[in-house]
Amino acid sequence: MSVARDFFMALSQNKVLNSGAKRWGLKLGAQSVVAGTTVEQMVESVKKLNAKGISVTIDNLGEFVFEKQEALEAKTQILAVIEAIHTHELDAHISLKPTQLGLDVDYTFCFDNLKEIVAKAHAYAIFINFDMEDYGHLEPSFNILDELSKDYDNIGTVIQAYFYEADENLQKYKDFRMRIVKGAYKEPEHLAYQDKKDIDANYIRLIEYHLLHGKFSSIATHDHHVINHVKKFVEEHNISKDKFEFQMLYGFRTDLQLELANEGYKFCTYVPFGVDWYGYFMRRLAERPQNLNLVAKQMFNKKTNTLLGIGAGAFLLGRASKRRKG
Ligand code: FDA
Repeated sequence: MSVARDFFMALSQNKVLNSGAKRWGLKLGAQSVVAGTTVEQMVESVKKLNAKGISVTIDNLGEFVFEKQEALEAKTQILAVIEAIHTHELDAHISLKPTQLGLDVDYTFCFDNLKEIVAKAHAYAIFINFDMEDYGHLEPSFNILDELSKDYDNIGTVIQAYFYEADENLQKYKDFRMRIVKGAYKEPEHLAYQDKKDIDANYIRLIEYHLLHGKFSSIATHDHHVINHVKKFVEEHNISKDKFEFQMLYGFRTDLQLELANEGYKFCTYVPFGVDWYGYFMRRLAERPQNLNLVAKQMFNKKTNTLLGIGAGAFLLGRASKRRKG
């Protein structure tokens, strides 16, 4: 794993910088990949995408939720987003992270929050996707999905191809609408493929399986090799364009997003918004340090320098202390 990836992953987990960033508003170029800090700003961005024939999944950003009050605030905000989708008749659904609704606080508390959200969305026929986080949250997230799916059919989740157990989970959940991704978190070797070639190969295998046997596949990637492979595969296997969609993140490869929509493929853009943008943005930089060109333009901004400076200091100290520990 590269130093740059380690660096940005460490920054993404830095609570001090995370809370500082909330006060500073969108900085570091984050405004090109985060659709505003308020529901109103997000709705305007979504309308523009919908006008181009692009559907969206909306993520109310939130990190480090360890207090009930924060989880309740997140729930209120997500309920407001559901109301906004309904009121503005947006072509949109919701993506949420179980930790934001209190999974690290208490399982039952989180379950109740998610149930309220899923029930409200169900009344408006809005789909809810549970984003998948690191391995430690996988099992409880699937358990909540299992439990809620007994009463609601408007839910689905994500399969991360780097996990060895991804195959098993994909088969188990083939009758759900599923998003298939490579995987964004740093996971240990005994749980997940580390080599990019292995992850990519497993990713293709899982996509093919779900296209052939699954209910509806959301293929979430910016990788044109994968996209081209899927285009060929669906043609060869006579798979209807109604059975799958491509997904990409807001602000990334926007030309390709539009091109795919114009070619008649279903396309869904993942639209993050909110004041808690920092961890999300750092993970995007970790995945692809070339995204730093988003940051480069902002480098002469004083707050940017402070943020990166503190981050670099914390990261180097962490590495030095790890080396000392041997
Ligand atoms: P990857 O980073 O492997 O790049 C492959 C190649 O694609 C590159 O070498 C380059 O050629 C091209 N490429 C990639 N990005 C490009 C860019 N911006 N511009 C130009 N070329 C580019 N993860 C997770 O663990 N849980 C989740 O719930 C989700 N959810 C999710 C939703 C959506 C809509 C997306 C797109 C992604 C996620 N992810 C995720 C993140 C996912 O797991 C993964 O980390 C990233 O998508 C990066 O992998 P890619 O497949 O996009 O390309």
